[in-house]
Amino acid sequence: MDLANGISKDLDAELVPVDLRVFADGESKIKVKKVKDHCVIVQSTYPPTDRHLLQALMLIKRCSEDSSKVYAVMPYMAYSRQDRAFLKGEAVSMDLIAKLIEAVGTKRLITVDVHSPATLSYFTINAQNISAVGLLAKYAKVKFKTNVPIVVSPDKGGVQRVVEFAKELGTDMIALMKRRNKDTGEVNIEEKELNCNIVDRDLILLDDTISTGGSIVEACRFLRRYKPNKIYAMCTHAVLIGDTKRRVKAAGVEEIISTNSIPGDSAKVDLAGLISGQIKNIIESKNL
Ligand code: R5P
Repeated sequence: MDLANGISKDLDAELVPVDLRVFADGESKIKVKKVKDHCVIVQSTYPPTDRHLLQALMLIKRCSEDSSKVYAVMPYMAYSRQDRAFLKGEAVSMDLIAKLIEAVGTKRLITVDVHSPATLSYFTINAQNISAVGLLAKYAKVKFKTNVPIVVSPDKGGVQRVVEFAKELGTDMIALMKRRNKDTGEVNIEEKELNCNIVDRDLILLDDTISTGGSIVEACRFLRRYKPNKIYAMCTHAVLIGDTKRRVKAAGVEEIISTNSIPGDSAKVDLAGLISGQIKNIIESKNL
């Protein structure tokens, strides 16, 4: 379920191989044959984040020398959580990243379930966010058809996401109150009590991203007090840094299910159709 491969198949477009070398000092070097006409660069900027970002920029720059229609597909957009200065003196890194993506010649950008709408405000090119929530919900509808879980967001920011997801499954939803310490990044669930009975019910914890797993682990710790049955975690972007998968499982999560915005064994939901549909619309609209 390689994403670039899937997108090229859907679009009936050539999949152009990239010759990539990483030297002993950490520098990357890319080589790619001449491209023409519409060119779609697919690269999520998951860890090693800066390396993947730089490789994507190098590739876009290289292809922009041949074509004026280079589209960047960055399903997982790193730095999107740095969309403003939370503390005095902090750099707004997303502003820089947007400028870099534009500077190398990107004509349009497509991303998936980006952390916040503010992220896209730093682009002057047409930058579009598409939602994978419908796809995740459809997957869950099939997988959990005999025992429909309650859908839980670890934070209030995800309320729209769980509303849409729960509607598709015809089930209830809960959005917890999460606070993150701006200095340490530590997460706390500050919900006083639940307004929904979850005793013996299966739950799906739904988030845009599982990164360090802090949000999911804390949510599990809180929810366990109310004696649910099984807990599943679903997300668009399974970054799963270090031993996150083990810690999330140890916190009581049966299974992590994500899209293939980032490759890995949790990537069960294919984004290729969603993204290629968007690219087809762009090409057909001639609004390049
Ligand atoms: C934050 O607001 C996001 O929606 C996710 O909850 C967050 O990115 C997850 O990160 P972590 O897994 O490190 O808690």
